[in-house]
Amino acid sequence: MLLKMIPEMNKVSVFMRDRRHVETIIKNMQRAGTSTLQVISDFDMTLTRFAHNGVHCPTTHNVLHSSTLISEECKTKMRDLFAHYYPIEINSSMSEEEKIPHMVEWWTQAHDLLIQQRIRKDQLAQAVRNSGAMLREGYKRFFDVLHQNSVPLLIFSAGVGDILEEVIAGHDIFHPNVRVFSNYMDYDEEGVACAFKGEMIHSFNKREGALQNTQQFIHDRTNVLLLGDTPGDLNMADGVQNLHNILRIGFLNDKVDERMKQYISSYDIVLVKDETLDIPNAILNYIT
Ligand code: C5P
Ligand code: MG
Repeated sequence: MLLKMIPEMNKVSVFMRDRRHVETIIKNMQRAGTSTLQVISDFDMTLTRFAHNGVHCPTTHNVLHSSTLISEECKTKMRDLFAHYYPIEINSSMSEEEKIPHMVEWWTQAHDLLIQQRIRKDQLAQAVRNSGAMLREGYKRFFDVLHQNSVPLLIFSAGVGDILEEVIAGHDIFHPNVRVFSNYMDYDEEGVACAFKGEMIHSFNKREGALQNTQQFIHDRTNVLLLGDTPGDLNMADGVQNLHNILRIGFLNDKVDERMKQYISSYDIVLVKDETLDIPNAILNYIT
């Protein structure tokens, strides 16, 4: 049994629908070698922690709450939006179609609020560095191993790209093999954020975004390790042509009992309240 050779797979946080299938995929990936591998990952609550010491960690939209770049009034409004829309995002009795209009409302209002703050590009790095953004335990090994093995990492995020980049740059892991596909801000000639660029990416249009932007993807690496935390992340690799093997790892952070059934039937490996990257790291260790 191959999984016995990866002791981390016996952690209590690990759930699998079909162990054999997981073994086959990992074996195929190992045989094919790292030159055929790419990693496609979500960012918020996948590469970043969901909670630390019982406190919810911020998403890229909320990272600036600990800074003075945005007003207290804006912080309150953003928190109110989160309190209203996040329960809809994770509601297991609503369909994605029902959720989408709410998500569009959430992102539209949050982006408008952020733009009203006249955020200056030259102040962003410092503000993000002083913020409470927290990557999952083992992040350094994860990013460094991919870099050392020249495995591309595409971070596909519905968060705020400018902030995401500062988070990874601030942790010294924005290596040249990392590409980010996300919502980016546009700046005026004075370097003040004045709009969001392009089509909005929200939790449930990643598949559509992937199919419309296939140039963002690498097509000659046919084996994909996919990491996500919402059902909307499952199809992030649909922009890759000629997919041979895909292993989907899903972090189930919240409302575990209600959502387990959905996660276990769609993700190959489900990690329940696991704030580490131990499992992706162990699999990469085996493959590389
Ligand atoms: O990187 P990822 O695609 O996970 O980023 C999107 C996440 O950000 C969503 O899952 C949502 O919970 C969160 N979000 C937020 N504030 C907003 C919009 C989305 O915290 N205004
Ligand atoms: Mg996420």
